[in-house]
Amino acid sequence: MCGIVGYFGSKDGMGAVVEGLKRLEYRGYDSWGLAARTDRKILIHKEIGKIGSFNLKKDLPNFGGKICIGHTRWATHGGVTAINSHPHLSCDGRIAVVHNGIVENYQELRAALEKKGHKFKSQTDTEVIAHLIEQELRTKKNIVEAVRSALKKIEGSFALGIIDRENDILIGARYASPLVLGIAKDEFYLGSDVPAFLKYANQVVFLDEREMVVLSHGKSGNAQFDLMNIDSGKKIKAKITKIKWSAEEAEKGGHPHFMIKEMLEQPLVIRKTAATEKEELEKAAALIKKAKRVFVVACGTALHAGIYGSYLLAKRNNIMVQPISAGELSYFSHLFKKGDLVITVSQSGETADVLEAVRSAHKAGAKVLALVNVLGSSLMRAADRSILTKAGSEICVLSTKAYISQQAMFAMLSGALNGETAKMKKSLLEVADAIEKIIEKKNLGKIKTLAKKLSKVPNLYGLGRSLNYANSLESCLKIKEVSYIHAEGFAGGDLKHGPIALIEKDVPVMVFATPDSTEKEIVSNAMEVKARGAFVIGISFQNNSVYEEFLPVTDLGDLTPIAAIVYTQLLAYYLALEKKLDPAKPTHLANGVTVN
Ligand code: F6R
Repeated sequence: MCGIVGYFGSKDGMGAVVEGLKRLEYRGYDSWGLAARTDRKILIHKEIGKIGSFNLKKDLPNFGGKICIGHTRWATHGGVTAINSHPHLSCDGRIAVVHNGIVENYQELRAALEKKGHKFKSQTDTEVIAHLIEQELRTKKNIVEAVRSALKKIEGSFALGIIDRENDILIGARYASPLVLGIAKDEFYLGSDVPAFLKYANQVVFLDEREMVVLSHGKSGNAQFDLMNIDSGKKIKAKITKIKWSAEEAEKGGHPHFMIKEMLEQPLVIRKTAATEKEELEKAAALIKKAKRVFVVACGTALHAGIYGSYLLAKRNNIMVQPISAGELSYFSHLFKKGDLVITVSQSGETADVLEAVRSAHKAGAKVLALVNVLGSSLMRAADRSILTKAGSEICVLSTKAYISQQAMFAMLSGALNGETAKMKKSLLEVADAIEKIIEKKNLGKIKTLAKKLSKVPNLYGLGRSLNYANSLESCLKIKEVSYIHAEGFAGGDLKHGPIALIEKDVPVMVFATPDSTEKEIVSNAMEVKARGAFVIGISFQNNSVYEEFLPVTDLGDLTPIAAIVYTQLLAYYLALEKKLDPAKPTHLANGVTVN
């Protein structure tokens, strides 16, 4: 993730842009940069590291303008260097661009532009946007048309702020990355989220997919905005929303807790995972292919994602992956040897047991592949190869969006192993759409009602088989962590070997069904518990008379569990609210367990 901010108005807006970037630092903080248009010149300033302690007045007193953009970066393409930091300029220095997202076809675009004589300075995907606009300006009648035409050629995701040395204009555009316009008296703001400018503007327009906003001075000289569709160029009537959130609520996107904010972000997380670079996946897949034995080592929720991954790789790729809890690894790690691959999964990248696993793997000469969410974390630095999962910053202690980002990354790896990256990407986009349906308002109401019904139960169980076994564990982990209801997940096949003794009248059992040959078996398990009085909640691609409560999930084949878990994350949250508990403060838990 990266954060972008923009200002267009009648006074020097650089102070507001710097403040906005500080608020967006949670989106990325390996470098940052600013651009200002003043006296038909574009000034640029870039630095490596966090913007946190930067003081504009003291550190850069003469830097500013009435049209400004800024960016805080989380590197994806190209290392953490000042050159790779945004804003990026066209060859002639006329166009400056800040970007959040990924230009997936940047290599083709860059090659074509280089043939036309464009000289690139950075290794980023973003720089092609500046050159592409410059190229389009050669044939298009004005900057707005040139930008539209350039954006139509871009595949991938973008939230953009674009300034032009030759025009009094600031252009914002979005597709699959967030962008908000802030409206104040005779001035406008752009931000990746509302808190970036809430201090100055509380009337906002949330840009929709493939929308573009042009900020300019009208005939009267007043600042004005025009909203339009990128593809058709047709003007769109803006829906202005008045923000009534407090500054603290604004950070949570208007939601009362980060947990709900982060759960609702999940379609975007999946779309971002789908955009993971093919080359990156193929390099990781090569490590898996080459390994004599493969292990997946992680803790808690991340381990559950690893368990899903191990079933997926067994089913789709015929690869045996042994999951081991990082906390238990030390009893096995003396058996690691050269030729082994240890896949570590971690949101924080700082979990002590996981880092210990890396040390023992390396000691034995084994290789480590990390699926990790925090750039620059200890795990990322220690691993032989790492892939950044695409959850973005997860502030809630309870892991939700990181879980599905890890599951989705295993899916992308599985696709790459079979030479089907593009096909898997398409399937993941369907997962995002399916989650979008689950988080619709009417469904949230249904889950709230279910939470009300279940809030007084002392015990609750989860059942799943094969690809959904991990979800039976994860759903119960989430419920116990946040609502303190005793919840345990089991594999359907284990039911008769003990857990069935726990089934009594009205005990809720969440049954996860996978659309494959295991569906019949899990439905049989559901019947077995229902016969003993259980209240059966079916989370499935198809209804069955055994389910007393049915939570429908789109049939997404082997990826169905990625969408299914969202129901139970939401259930866990609403159970906590029903019980008047604070989901922001789960007892005894913290983000990042950095001690063994
Ligand atoms: C559950 C949760 C924990 C973490 C676990 C691993 O909601 O947050 O179970 O998943 O402590 O943490 P990371 O992924 O940071 O290694």
